[in-house]
Amino acid sequence: MKKTIQAGLLAGLMVGGMSAAMADPDPEMLAFTCLGCHGPNGQSVGPATPTIAGMPRGAFILAMEGYRDNSLPGTVMDRHGGGYSDVEIRKMADFFAEQTYRPAQQDYDSALAARGGEVHEEHCAACHENNGAAYEEDLPRIAGQWIPYLEYTMIDYFRYERPIPRGKGGRLRDFAEERSRSQMAEDIRALAHFYGSQQDPALYE
Ligand code: HEC
Ligand code: HEC
Repeated sequence: MKKTIQAGLLAGLMVGGMSAAMADPDPEMLAFTCLGCHGPNGQSVGPATPTIAGMPRGAFILAMEGYRDNSLPGTVMDRHGGGYSDVEIRKMADFFAEQTYRPAQQDYDSALAARGGEVHEEHCAACHENNGAAYEEDLPRIAGQWIPYLEYTMIDYFRYERPIPRGKGGRLRDFAEERSRSQMAEDIRALAHFYGSQQDPALYE
């Protein structure tokens, strides 16, 4: 269905020529500016950048709207995420949602991953199902992302510097309140290794 809409759109652009292309830029052109950081088709090759290939449409839109209205601060996206219209954000959401999510192939510490798995089961699994690999409309996948990205993102969340939009992720706050700083740092590392250890592509199908 999405493919048909996109094919129709592209055909329309070709007939309409340049002015139509400017008024109604095609999704690939919009997405092109993102790939320098997010990697080919949004598949990240750098450990500090999340993969956005295969990102659920709803989660993508919520994140981009958050960067645009500054309710979701980022280290980089606060500068690169603004300035897009609702239509452009939705086109990019379609484009990235159609790409295949591939878990990062990376080294991890098995003992830390095992410990992280226990924390995950107890505190996170209720929402981030399937070890964080589940595809759900409004939830970014956390399994299979690069470990350094996961670690700094979670530190941002836990430090409350990245206010968690829409409240649901607020569970993290309860989790943080039950722990000392050093316990938090350890648990975050363990969680990052656990999610980073979920490398079997079959988990994501
Ligand atoms: C200069 C590098 C850079 C560019 C260019 C860039 N991004 Fe990002 N993006 C990042 C980083 C780094 C993050 C992690 C959040 C942060 O630190 O800002 C991120 C986070 C995101 C997220 C949230 C992902 C998640 O799992 O929560 C989305 C969605 C996103 N970017 C979309 C885009 C789109 C769409 C574009 C192009 C219009 C783009 N980015 C351009 C580096 C970049
Ligand atoms: C009540 C449901 C819920 C629970 C429990 C929960 N989360 Fe989340 N989490 C979310 C939602 C929803 C988001 C998307 C952002 C938002 O809307 O708050 C999210 C976002 C995230 C992100 C950001 C992903 C990205 O790429 O932007 C990370 C990392 C994360 N959660 C980790 C965890 C960890 C670790 C735990 C357990 C300690 C946990 N979450 C518990 C619902 C939950």
